[in-house]
Amino acid sequence: MSPDAAQSDSEMKAIKRILDFEPKAEDFAGAVIAGLSSDPKSIPPKFFYDQRGSDIFNRICETEEYYVTRTEVALLAEIGPEVGQLAGAGVSVIEYGCGSSDKIRALLDALSSPAEYWAIDISRAHLLQSAGEIGLDYPDLSVNAVCADFTGGLELPEEMAGRRLAFFPGSTIGNQTPGEAEAFLTGVRGMVGDAGALLIGVDLIKDTDRLNRAYNDAAGHTADFNINLLCRMQVELGAELDLDGFRHRAFFNAEKSRIEMHLLSSRAQTIRVAGREFKFAEGETIHTENSYKYDIPGFAGLAGRAGFDVTKSWTDAEQLFAIHFLDAAPGAGG
Ligand code: AVJ
Repeated sequence: MSPDAAQSDSEMKAIKRILDFEPKAEDFAGAVIAGLSSDPKSIPPKFFYDQRGSDIFNRICETEEYYVTRTEVALLAEIGPEVGQLAGAGVSVIEYGCGSSDKIRALLDALSSPAEYWAIDISRAHLLQSAGEIGLDYPDLSVNAVCADFTGGLELPEEMAGRRLAFFPGSTIGNQTPGEAEAFLTGVRGMVGDAGALLIGVDLIKDTDRLNRAYNDAAGHTADFNINLLCRMQVELGAELDLDGFRHRAFFNAEKSRIEMHLLSSRAQTIRVAGREFKFAEGETIHTENSYKYDIPGFAGLAGRAGFDVTKSWTDAEQLFAIHFLDAAPGAGG
């Protein structure tokens, strides 16, 4: 069965261009071997998002504890008219990581006759599905899909209609260290050019209990999401490991202003992956994700170092989440 089999013909036709830089399976194998060979052990969070992982993530977003997605969607709807004003008419929207289509729809609905939409995502099936649906629902928009790992930097066509508005919702920027985030935003600044802008969603620093609960939901979806990495290792890499030997662990590291997720080995054990053995002490972890939290001045500083000026920041009434409209600073980047 081809990966596009679930895709309807009309959805595929609604996508103008598809650029495919989908990461190969070897990338996962290579990352797992490198990550388990290092000390401390780690695996990058981008590997969470296979089909099953993306589905589990959607379930996390529906839990009471994980306020992030629903707060951002509501805030986006509320600030739509202002965002439309700041962006202007006829822009090309470039979205990094097209997770939930609620967000891009809220943005497109707020904009005055957007010209092009470029959806970038690592998960090919998810990407084509959501880009196809947008293409059908917005017939005047030129919809394009780019399957790529955008953390590595990527090439988009030189030609794009109107002003470029990058869109990076979901606080996905939080997966990167502040240094990586600065380099990434500098790349975005170069891509949008001197007339460009970036609309970005960033989770705020808040009460530690609230943060810890968001990454330890009672229904266990976040645990499943984390453990799914081990399932992927079994299915895709033939890993010999016992799922019961690992537990989900997530906590706020206040000093580093980040949630850390780990897979904790509940006993001393050896697992086998791709013909190699990896030893775990009892309590040793694989660090699987960081989710950095920023206050408004902290994020403005980061944006400034990447060549953006904060034109406006909004938060919800509870100050859980922030959305920032950044304009390219004159002369910065290139
Ligand atoms: C999609 C990276 C923003 O860090 O909150 C949710 C991923 N991990 N629960 C986040 C995630 C555990 C999420 N991001």
